[in-house]
Amino acid sequence: MSNIVIAGAQWGDEGKGKIVDWLTERTDIVVRAQGGNNAGHTVISEGVKYILHLIPSGILWPGKQCVIGNGVVLDPIALLGEVNGLRAQGIEITPENLLISDRAHLVLPYHRSLDARQESSLGDRKIGTTKRGIGPAYADKIERTGLRVHDLYRPDHFAAVLSAKIAEANVLLEGAGEPLLDAEVIGREVLAAAEELAPHIADTVPWLHARLAEGKSLLFEGAQGTYLDVDHGTYPFVTSSNTTSGGACTGSGVPPQRIDKVIGVSKAYTTRVGEGPFPTENDALGDRLHAMGREFGATTGRERRCGWLDLPLLRYATMVNGIDELAVTNLDGLDQLEEIPVCVSYSLDGRQLDVPPASPADMTRVEPVFTTLPGWLTDISGCQKYSDLPVAARSYLDFISERIGARITLVGVGPARDQTLVNPE
Ligand code: GDP
Ligand code: IMO
Ligand code: MG
Repeated sequence: MSNIVIAGAQWGDEGKGKIVDWLTERTDIVVRAQGGNNAGHTVISEGVKYILHLIPSGILWPGKQCVIGNGVVLDPIALLGEVNGLRAQGIEITPENLLISDRAHLVLPYHRSLDARQESSLGDRKIGTTKRGIGPAYADKIERTGLRVHDLYRPDHFAAVLSAKIAEANVLLEGAGEPLLDAEVIGREVLAAAEELAPHIADTVPWLHARLAEGKSLLFEGAQGTYLDVDHGTYPFVTSSNTTSGGACTGSGVPPQRIDKVIGVSKAYTTRVGEGPFPTENDALGDRLHAMGREFGATTGRERRCGWLDLPLLRYATMVNGIDELAVTNLDGLDQLEEIPVCVSYSLDGRQLDVPPASPADMTRVEPVFTTLPGWLTDISGCQKYSDLPVAARSYLDFISERIGARITLVGVGPARDQTLVNPE
């Protein structure tokens, strides 16, 4: 029984949902602490595919409890849609198994409009956001003008702040020739969603501390990944939250000394959705994976950009997250390759870099230094245990583990729950 943080080690979509689902059996409570419905976590449970955006993946397990923490930005309309969608798939959601922090900031329809407007005004400097309003909602939070979940239950106050915020947004939207927003219509829609969500709202901080005192275990489901972190990522091509392990504490009110372990999640190769530098990007690998029906975004359906595994990224991710163990997913994606290039360092103006540089201009200019490892040319999706993996596949994993200084304990060979292998060493 321990408290574990799951953190993406790349640019998101590492397979965190699948790893969280696998670990949920051994935990009591699953917590989301940052991000919003920009996330899309795919879980295949008993043959059925679910895509979770705001609700922790633990909801698929009967008897487990889920918490949306204070650090999340929450779109009440989207959340209600997700609740209803999961219910339609037969998942039970009650105030007992889904708690929502009263301190989480709200994502409101004007945030979505501002997100889209900002992206179009950036032109070719755009970030390629999910257009879910995440950046503008976190901007309001940091600017100290945001509305939080508890504000939904003071309707007069909520309506007054909302109409002032929408009046401001409308000035910008009008200037951009975008359709204007109607504060009254939006207010009604949001408050109707709020009424349905009301039984789930709680002060989740003392609730979590009470569960810790009872000896319950927590699993923190990170959203996005290290290189989308607003501090440690490839700024400005990032999201607006701390996606690294520290975000689990600030976004839940659970202090650092209660965290027992950090598990990083990485694909066996690298993907990225949206704009920004990607040193090991390789279109031929992308074409191959897309032709296999893989690497399409879970939230926006966009084709993910694909490239080789990048060890400078994983090395830095191991530092900033404190990765104790690494879960490597999608190893089966490399099954048909005779040789597999792995980036071991970067070269920049003749200098060797072992971790990524700060400036996006430098990150765009680095030349990856590759080592080529032998492939296994075997379908590994049916492997039942770690020792069933071909020697070349195990050597690939050992190489990664040695170069980044973290043990690889879990390996994904397919999207289903039972396609997760445990490294016995
Ligand atoms: P997340 O955002 O980190 O939860 O990851 P996503 O769900 O957005 O993307 C990961 C994709 O890889 C999903 O389609 C998963 O079903 C799939 N996936 C996860 N692990 C494996 C694996 O080991 N093998 C294969 N083939 N697919 C996997
Ligand atoms: P999960 O949790 C991959 C990317 C967007 C864009 C940038 C900023 O499924 O790993 P935003 O809408 O957050 O302002 O967009 O971040 N992005 C993700 N990429 N997986 C995610 O979540 C992402 N959430 C945001 O594509 O590049
Ligand atoms: Mg995803």
